Amino acid sequence: MVLCGLGSPLSLVPWAAALLFVLSVARALALPEICTQCPGRVQNLSEVALYCKRTPELTLQARCCLNGEGTILGLDLQNCSLKDPGPNFPQAHTATIIDLQANPLQGDLVNTFHGFTQLQTLILPQDVNCPGGINAWDTVTFYVNNQSCEGQRNICNSTEDPEICPENGSCVPDGPGLLQCVCADGFHGYKCMRQGSFPLFMFFGILGSTTLSISILLWGTQRRKAKAS
Ligand SMILES: *[C@@H]1O[C@H](CO)[C@@H](O)[C@H](O)[C@H]1NC(C)=O
Ligand SMILES: *[C@@H]1O[C@H](CO)[C@@H](O)[C@H](O)[C@H]1NC(C)=O
Ligand SMILES: *[C@@H]1O[C@H](CO)[C@@H](O)[C@H](O)[C@H]1NC(C)=O
Ligand SMILES: *[C@@H]1O[C@H](CO)[C@@H](O)[C@H](O)[C@H]1NC(C)=O
Ligand SMILES: *[C@@H]1O[C@H](CO)[C@@H](O)[C@H](O)[C@H]1NC(C)=O
Repeated sequence: MVLCGLGSPLSLVPWAAALLFVLSVARALALPEICTQCPGRVQNLSEVALYCKRTPELTLQARCCLNGEGTILGLDLQNCSLKDPGPNFPQAHTATIIDLQANPLQGDLVNTFHGFTQLQTLILPQDVNCPGGINAWDTVTFYVNNQSCEGQRNICNSTEDPEICPENGSCVPDGPGLLQCVCADGFHGYKCMRQGSFPLFMFFGILGSTTLSISILLWGTQRRKAKAS
């Protein structure tokens, strides 16, 4: 008797493996949601397209310019009726260039760019201020239909107050006009004043004894109930 090769269960294994492989590759290559949030793709002559073509090994996909690892280096969301950049926007925190012009953006963008430390060119509608204010950028230029914020300043260097972070902490930039104080090794807590590693054992100790006393209480009440009945 001759078995039909494709139908036999054993020959299904490579098929399943191939399918899984294709699925995992597709998953790895899936574009971040922010790249497909707006319809269409980056227009040929936009700043993001020019940047992407200028730099080798970068490719345009939907609204993003990506490197070989799929990291977002450019994002063009212009002309997309956006009132705000939306919850997926932090996916683009690695971008060097972002274009948001021709959108009815509303409100303050400061926290929108939290963590966008690589950003060097930001194109905005004319009526929206550069995040962090004029002092967070090297140059702010106004055009008829847009404005550009260029060259993100390291606010840790430009601040007049060198003592902005506590004694055992240091200042690191955290996006336009934003900074973070990071405690030195071996320090933690408010103003980096607590020494030693985080006292986990104490936390669990207290939690443990609380749980224990609640259990004893419950055990006691259950016993009383049991006696009553
Ligand atoms: C944009 O560029 C692509 C390839 O570089 C080309 O095929 C297409 O026609 C261009 N589109 C416009 C509107 O110029
Ligand atoms: C914006 O998009 C609309 C279609 O969605 C198009 O008609 C219009 O020309 C675009 N404007 C610009 C400045 O690209
Ligand atoms: C900004 O708008 C002007 C017209 O006012 C246009 O010529 C220019 O290309 C726009 N800049 C960018 C970066 O798109
Ligand atoms: C800011 O300071 C850091 C370290 O103090 C230095 O490496 C960096 O080049 C400075 N950046 C600017 C723009 O001055
Ligand atoms: C900073 O660390 C030094 C030891 O490295 C310590 O003597 C000092 O009290 C610390 N300062 C603060 C404000 O905790």
